[in-house]
Formats: sequence, C-alpha cells, structure tokens
Amino acid sequence: MKTPLSSLVQLLEAEHYSSCMILSQPPIYSLYGESLQRELQQLLPTFYHLVPCGESLKNIESATACWQAMHQQGLDRRSLVVAIGGGALTDLAGFVAACYMRGIDVVYIPTTLMGMVDAAIGGKTGVNLPSGKNLVGVFRKPKQVIIRSDYLKTLPKREFCSGLAEVIKYGVIWDPTFFTYLEENMDVLLERNETVLRYVVERSYQIKNEIVEQDVQENGLRAILNWGHTFAHALETLTDYQQYTHGEAVSIGMCCAARVSAHLGYVDQNFVERQHKLCQRAGLQKELPSDVSIERLVECMKRDKKAVAQHISLVIANGMGQVELVVNVDPNMILEALTS
Ligand SMILES: NC(=O)c1ccc[n+]([C@@H]2O[C@H](COP(=O)([O-])OP(=O)(O)OC[C@H]3O[C@@H](n4cnc5c(N)ncnc54)[C@H](O)[C@@H]3O)[C@@H](O)[C@H]2O)c1
Repeated sequence: MKTPLSSLVQLLEAEHYSSCMILSQPPIYSLYGESLQRELQQLLPTFYHLVPCGESLKNIESATACWQAMHQQGLDRRSLVVAIGGGALTDLAGFVAACYMRGIDVVYIPTTLMGMVDAAIGGKTGVNLPSGKNLVGVFRKPKQVIIRSDYLKTLPKREFCSGLAEVIKYGVIWDPTFFTYLEENMDVLLERNETVLRYVVERSYQIKNEIVEQDVQENGLRAILNWGHTFAHALETLTDYQQYTHGEAVSIGMCCAARVSAHLGYVDQNFVERQHKLCQRAGLQKELPSDVSIERLVECMKRDKKAVAQHISLVIANGMGQVELVVNVDPNMILEALTS
C-alpha cells in the first residue's frame, strides 16, 4: 500500500493553509521528515518540532511543549500539523492538533506497522497519565492518512513484530479467512515480502475502517477492537510502559482473553492454541511475566477507562472471527481462568 505524497500536496493546494508544522522524532525526521519539509517549504511556511521516541512522549508535558512551539512559530487556526512517526507520535499529534486554538487540521504519515494498521485509523487521540494509559484524549479524525509501506524497511524487527499483534487481532475479531492467510504466510510476512506486506497492511486498514465507520464514538461495535486490550493496558501500566511495546502487551492480553473465553466455554482449546501459536510465530509472547501478579493485573483492569463503577468490561470470543463485549465480568472468574 502506497499513498503518494502528492495527495498531501493536493490537500495543501485545496485548503490554502497558512502554515504547517511537522511533528516528528529525531530518527524519523532524519530518515523521512527532512525531505518532506523541503517539499512542503516550497508551498507554505513549514516548521518542525521534535519530541523524544517511545511511549513516554505521550504525556501532557510533551503536549504543552508542542503547543508552546506552535504558538512561538505563529501557527494559527488555518495552520496544519503533519505528524510523521509511530503510533505514540500520531496519538500525541492528534491530541495536540485537536486542542490547539480549539482544533486545527492534522495529517498522519505513520511510519510503524502499528501506526499503519491501527493507530492512524479511527480518530482516537490522547496521552497517558502516570496512573493509566490513554486516559486523556479526544476523538478527532485526521484530514488525511498517508500510508507508505516502504517506510517499514527501516523499522526495527521488535517494532515490526509489535504491529503484527494488531494484524493478528483483525483475523481473530473479524475475518477468519485473514487469520488463515496469516497462518499460511507468517514466515514470508516476517521477511517483509513486499506483496504480502502490502496486502496485510491494506486488509488490516480496511477492517479497522469498516469497524470504526459503523461506530465512530465507540458506543457499540467499535469496542471489539479492544480484544485483549484491557489486559494489555493494565500490563503496560503495571510495568511503567518500559517492559513491553504496545503490541507485545496486546499479544499477551489476547492470549489472556482467549483463556478467559475458553474458561467460560465460549471457545475450545483449539482456538486458544491457534492464536497462541500465531502470536509466537510472529515473535510475540503469550504468558504474563512472573513478576506481575494476576491479582494486581485484575485490580488495575478495574480502573481501565472502559470499566464503569469498577466493573470490568471484556471482549470475549465466541469463535474465530466472532467476538463480543461482555460488561460486568466477575473479576474472580478472570482470576480463576488465568490461574487454572
Ligand atoms: N489511536 C489509536 O487508535 C491507537 C491504536 C493502536 C495503538 N495506539 C498507540 O500507538 C502507540 C504504539 O505505537 P507504535 O507501536 O507505532 O510505537 P512508537 O510510536 O513508540 O514507535 C516505536 C519506535 O519505532 C521508531 N520508528 C518508527 N518508525 C520507524 C521507521 N520507519 N524506521 C525506524 N524506526 C522507526 C520510533 O522512533 C520509536 O522509537 C501506543 O501508544 C498505543 O497506545 C493508538
């Protein structure tokens, strides 16, 4: 999948923006941002602001630094933010743009697999609080998403595998044929074969879009995208966002969710094993770390933003390609499922 950068140029010409700020991170800016800036600079005043790499950039302090830079550079209500980087960067950029002067346009150019197949789609933006992930944010769609799968050539293996967790998720929650395709092509996909990679990015993008278009504000269907995520967010919080990438935590979370679904009798052991095996082949883990107790994990899940009055909501599988949100899940049952 390759959206030409010329589509951004067309947008700039159509919208007559007054100025533009590229938001990126040092390594990404050197790889892809600098040349983009040279191109944009020919069309309108273009500045850049860099933030550090990693999940720790997704906080209110980074957002404030962005707003200060934007104001100092004279960005106004007709300015545009162009975010080029991974999911953490586009989440921050979307939030920053949504709040600056009560909202200016943003374009995402995701450079990670996670960004291309998930984070850049659907308009969820936000930052973390020390006590929990994505707790402050707004829904706001980007004006444009530019996908360049060739940017994945420089992505470190660990980050590539991390994105595969969300790719596998789409097979589990929506498209059993896609899951089988991933089983058949995982080895080639890991080699980043262009044809397979393009198809996987495109199909994942389509699935996420199809789901969010039916439920933009997450009042129903969209919640199924959180398969494994209630566990993952708790795990990321308890390990201070240091030990796991988001996708690594999602893989462990999906494996926990599969065990709970089997414990409730909704799926059989074959379902659990198929998902475990595919995650493992994608270089991802399935087990919770021994230093995170299941009791603490479940306590943390009660404070997830999907929880209401500390009652846990969980996406449960009924079969491959079929999941549903179950509200008010008994925490003791989760403990039982994960310790049995
Ligand atoms: N908004 C949403 O709907 C949504 C969905 C999924 C995930 N997310 C969020 O996305 C974040 C995770 O995103 P991520 O997995 O992309 O991680 P990330 O943004 O932290 O990027 C991972 C690392 O890869 C580097 N990198 C990025 N692109 C590169 C490239 N092409 N070449 C070399 N290095 C590159 C980055 O500098 C960074 O160090 C989490 O905060 C998660 O909550 C949001």
